[in-house]
Amino acid sequence: MTLSAVEVNQIKQAPAAENILPAVLHRWSPRAFADKPVSDADLKTIFEAVRWTASSSNEQPWRFIVGRQGSETYTKILGSLVESNQLWAGKAPVLMLGVANGLTQKNTPNGSALYDLGQAAATLALQATALGLAVHQMGGYSRDKAREAFGIPAEYHLGAAIALGYQGEPSLLTVERMLQIETSPRTRKELNEFVLSGWGAALHLG
Ligand SMILES: Cc1cc2nc3c(=O)[nH]c(=O)nc-3n(C[C@H](O)[C@H](O)[C@H](O)COP(=O)(O)O)c2cc1C
Repeated sequence: MTLSAVEVNQIKQAPAAENILPAVLHRWSPRAFADKPVSDADLKTIFEAVRWTASSSNEQPWRFIVGRQGSETYTKILGSLVESNQLWAGKAPVLMLGVANGLTQKNTPNGSALYDLGQAAATLALQATALGLAVHQMGGYSRDKAREAFGIPAEYHLGAAIALGYQGEPSLLTVERMLQIETSPRTRKELNEFVLSGWGAALHLG
């Protein structure tokens, strides 16, 4: 029996822990997207939040190419995705591509460009979640195709493609494996696997 979108959303929630931001607990990456557009007002709110992301030397190297379903931009992003992502991402009302300027304003290499883009994408995902929207980032796309389709200059690094929309009914997914992932709980490493007091030694936080 396929679960409903509401039931899946419950399964995907991080366990409530004291003092964690609600958007952190509620964010997860669906593949099933509802046939419901994202308003301009919500897009604007999301990018206003992104705008205030920290970045090395305040370079703000991120650029987001945003396409709504039916637009040429959307078609180009969808066309650059690997097939396994195309199968579900083509239902999302908005597809985006995050890229980062690899050169500083002084024309020197910016070693933090992709790091900063990642921070901006995290802000984007959390703000979208706070608005009741869902985000699914994708590394599975052809950077060559995307670069060519948009004429992105060589100094820009390509980050992730991003699907944005409202979580949909899991029954929209036609591939059994995707349905299975969509309806399974999320898993994570324990804190002692990545919070360290020295190299190879866990920091014990009680
Ligand atoms: C940089 C990046 C690349 C990703 N690439 C893909 C992808 O190509 N296809 C996909 O289905 N999910 C992709 N994901 C989603 C991850 O699989 C997902 O975030 C992870 O399994 C944790 O699940 P959660 O986001 O629901 O917590 C990607 C996520 C990130 C941050």
